[in-house]
Amino acid sequence: MDRFKVYITRRIPREGIDLLRRVADVDINPLDAPLGREELLAVAAEYDGILGVLTDKIDARFMDAAKNLKGYANYAVGFDNIDVPEATRRKLPVSNTPGVLTDATAECAWALLFAVARRVVETDTIMRAGRWKGWGPLQFIGGDVRGKTLGIVGAGRIGTAMALMSRGFDMKVLYTSSSGRKNGVLESELSARLVSFDQLLAESDFISIHTPLTPQTKHMFGADAFSRMKDTAYVINTGRGPVIDENALVAALRKGDIAGAGLDVYENEPAMAPGLAGLDNVVVLPHIGSATRSARTGMATMAARNLIAMLKGQRPETCLNPEIFA
Ligand code: DGY
Repeated sequence: MDRFKVYITRRIPREGIDLLRRVADVDINPLDAPLGREELLAVAAEYDGILGVLTDKIDARFMDAAKNLKGYANYAVGFDNIDVPEATRRKLPVSNTPGVLTDATAECAWALLFAVARRVVETDTIMRAGRWKGWGPLQFIGGDVRGKTLGIVGAGRIGTAMALMSRGFDMKVLYTSSSGRKNGVLESELSARLVSFDQLLAESDFISIHTPLTPQTKHMFGADAFSRMKDTAYVINTGRGPVIDENALVAALRKGDIAGAGLDVYENEPAMAPGLAGLDNVVVLPHIGSATRSARTGMATMAARNLIAMLKGQRPETCLNPEIFA
């Protein structure tokens, strides 16, 4: 039997590549940089299967080029880079990597929460520059965490894990749900309450964003939302950058509408909005939410298993359009 031809658009952990090599001849983008649009369209035309990343736009133009493609496996849980309805219309199976990065991303949200509330990066910078003149009672006062209110926007897998990790800090937990459905785990384990977005904005001391990026959630956090938050509150985003209007965030931080922000994701990655990097009350990470050894290995093997299934005409484990196998 002829071997399949697979392309991987960025280097990924070896475990995923090894799995694919059992059934396919595998080519990998040799550069540690995203493929250009034309390069992506060229590989779409040539390969049976593609394992790609969140910077690869899997849209109608890609699918026009992908004449022989049997499946596309996203190396990410977020899939706003894929036009899933279009893929479904064309019966092209597509998959993502939920579950394996849940704890890593939730832990990253906590790292940001503490870093911004306790001014970790700002003060680390002062220490390294030799600018600290010794202890003082009014220096570097930050926000408290224990007993405060944590608002989760998007209580799916990662939002739920992030909230459950608050147990050690006796926090009151509020959450929103786009479907209006209650989160049984959060309600029973933490006595969390499902509230409206307005109530969550008004009552939370920390807001952690975990909602997927959709036309409805784009710029959900803009000037109006920031003005409704407490001026002592912090916003944390480990989801997708465009959920926050980044220029409005810079303005809100400058005006003191909110106390600070911890960001792992940006509206126009890898760029940041003008002014953001100059603010002391933000902590900015380079989209590393899932960057732990086990999460990234899990993503590689899950994406590889998904792609192998699709090459064989089978429904992948975590399929985004399972209806095409019905
Ligand atoms: C995802 O999986 O969606 C993250 O943003 C990258 O790991």
